Amino acid sequence: MSNSIGQLFRVTSFGESHGHSMSVVVDGCPPGIPLSSADMKSDLERRKAGTTQGSTTRLETDEVEILSGIFQGRTTGAPLTLMVCNHDSDSLHYNKKFAVPRPGHADYTAWVKYGGYNDYRGGGRFSGRITVGFVLAGTIAQKVLALVGVDILAHIVQIGPIHAATRFTSQSDMPRLLERCRQNPLYCADSEACTHMLALLEEIKNKGESVGGAIEGIATNLPVGLGEPVFDTVEGNLAKALFAIPAVKAVEFGAGFGAAGQTGSQHNDAFTMQNGHITTSSNHAGGILGGLTNGMPIVLHVAIKPTPSISKPQNSVDMVSKEPVVLTVEGRHDICIVPRAVVVVEAMMVITLCDFALLAGVIKPMRPQ
Ligand SMILES: Cc1cc2nc3c(=O)[nH]c(=O)nc-3n(C[C@H](O)[C@H](O)[C@H](O)COP(=O)(O)O)c2cc1C
Repeated sequence: MSNSIGQLFRVTSFGESHGHSMSVVVDGCPPGIPLSSADMKSDLERRKAGTTQGSTTRLETDEVEILSGIFQGRTTGAPLTLMVCNHDSDSLHYNKKFAVPRPGHADYTAWVKYGGYNDYRGGGRFSGRITVGFVLAGTIAQKVLALVGVDILAHIVQIGPIHAATRFTSQSDMPRLLERCRQNPLYCADSEACTHMLALLEEIKNKGESVGGAIEGIATNLPVGLGEPVFDTVEGNLAKALFAIPAVKAVEFGAGFGAAGQTGSQHNDAFTMQNGHITTSSNHAGGILGGLTNGMPIVLHVAIKPTPSISKPQNSVDMVSKEPVVLTVEGRHDICIVPRAVVVVEAMMVITLCDFALLAGVIKPMRPQ
């Protein structure tokens, strides 16, 4: 297994859905950053089950314990270990059906890979709950990146067939987008689309189905030149981090797949001067050229598939007897993962960009006050 990401800001994830806890070690956080468990609260609330529409009824308190790396309220430069204990897991349904893999989930592939020794309860290491640790690391990375003024925002732009009309257009958009997102339970900047999305989620729930969607992620105020081509490009490392989020099926940057249908003059972002700085008059590149940040906002889109565990009967196979089985998934599951994944997309973006900022040396060490 590979459970660590990042070179200087190194994040190691551990814990299983129905095990003792979901935890993370963050090594490489600069010393002197003020940090307490209270700082994690609002991001964890946004990720939490039961607080967003269409999410599982598993209710976890998500209390954070910081086990190391803090002294007198500030990071010391030593590894930070953060732990959130699991309290509300219910393994009954997994004990009954452990030999029958859920279509769309990792039950079959994990069973083969780990010879049946993996903790399959609640999906184990393949549960969406592992993203608790991602969010904890994201809160820390955000505090580091805030030192250089980088802003990150993710918001829902699609649930099933419903698209939000409001998208990011320019840097000056950020405060307006943030305010609009905060006004509705789905963190979607288009309130009319949000009303339709909420109605759809109710409909999907009543049918025993699930639904996917898409999230737009934005990072602004980035310096030019972050990224380490050729193998640690900004696109490459962001995509790697975002694909660690369970259920992510696609990531595109700027014009993305749309670039395939454009001509050079349509796609190229013309250079221009603004307030004494070189900038571009459009942003089809999504803020990245040659694997390096170009000073324009990074704009990316993440597609999330429908939740695999649905109560509608589905065909499966008993992995032991090899007999066909019609499976009706029990237990508590999200109807739609997208609302809970918004803050996780922000976390993976900020973790990756924090690592690049440290590699580029743009974060200056804090000195004793
Ligand atoms: C926040 C979050 C919550 C999730 N909740 C569920 C869930 O309730 N039920 C489920 O079957 N899958 C859920 N998933 C998705 C599965 O973990 C994921 O589909 C599975 O591990 C297979 O991985 P893959 O979809 O990336 O191939 C969730 C994912 C995330 C990010």
